[in-house]
Amino acid sequence: MDVKTAEFLKSSAHPKECPPADRPEYAFIGRSNVGKSSLINFLTNRKGLAKISSSPGKTQLINHFVIDEELQKTRDGSSWYLVDLPGFGYAKVSKTSRVKWQRTSEQFLTGRSNLMCVMMLIDSRHPPQQVDLDFMIWMAEKQLPFVMVFTKVDKLNRAERSEFLPRYELEMLKKWNCMPPVYVTSSEKREGREELLCFIQQTNSLYTA
Ligand code: GTP
Ligand code: MG
Repeated sequence: MDVKTAEFLKSSAHPKECPPADRPEYAFIGRSNVGKSSLINFLTNRKGLAKISSSPGKTQLINHFVIDEELQKTRDGSSWYLVDLPGFGYAKVSKTSRVKWQRTSEQFLTGRSNLMCVMMLIDSRHPPQQVDLDFMIWMAEKQLPFVMVFTKVDKLNRAERSEFLPRYELEMLKKWNCMPPVYVTSSEKREGREELLCFIQQTNSLYTA
């Protein structure tokens, strides 16, 4: 599958303001600066679609992008929503606004009937972070389907590249019976796009209005 058209649709401060839940939807979440907006631009092949931050904490609203809108009324494909959510765990914003963003994201994720999967972005350079581990447990408790998407693998050397995933698995398997699906990406070096789009295409076919 490729992306034919991708357009910014709406920024919403609250889940109630979001576009109608009328097509399959994928939410991108992860710690601030993990590379959510970059991955969105990479997947859609549109450079400036989601704003890349030089300073973390840029995305503060629920941003909806509509993909292949013209397929919404046809049967030979699917239009879908891609959602850029505020990054969590960013220390330099006030605690009040951090808590507010987190609550907004959580309300959004638990309230969307069309949410097919959460893309849980994780920076491949860092050891497992408690805030990420906690968030995945929270999703499991809420029965939200998610996949792990490791970002920035271009920044790893050969040894690090072979080690980061087993290291993460070791940590996950202390709490989980098995690993969720894993995708490995680099927006910089354009890695992992086909695999993710293929997953989205397969998952779109499971959508029932
Ligand atoms: P917030 O909106 O602040 O939560 O950040 P974000 O998760 O959307 O991250 P963003 O895409 O804005 O990227 C943050 C920084 O990481 C930018 O400087 C990007 O250029 C860089 N970056 C993102 N993806 C990659 C990647 O795959 N490889 C490399 N080397 N850098 C990346
Ligand atoms: Mg962003």
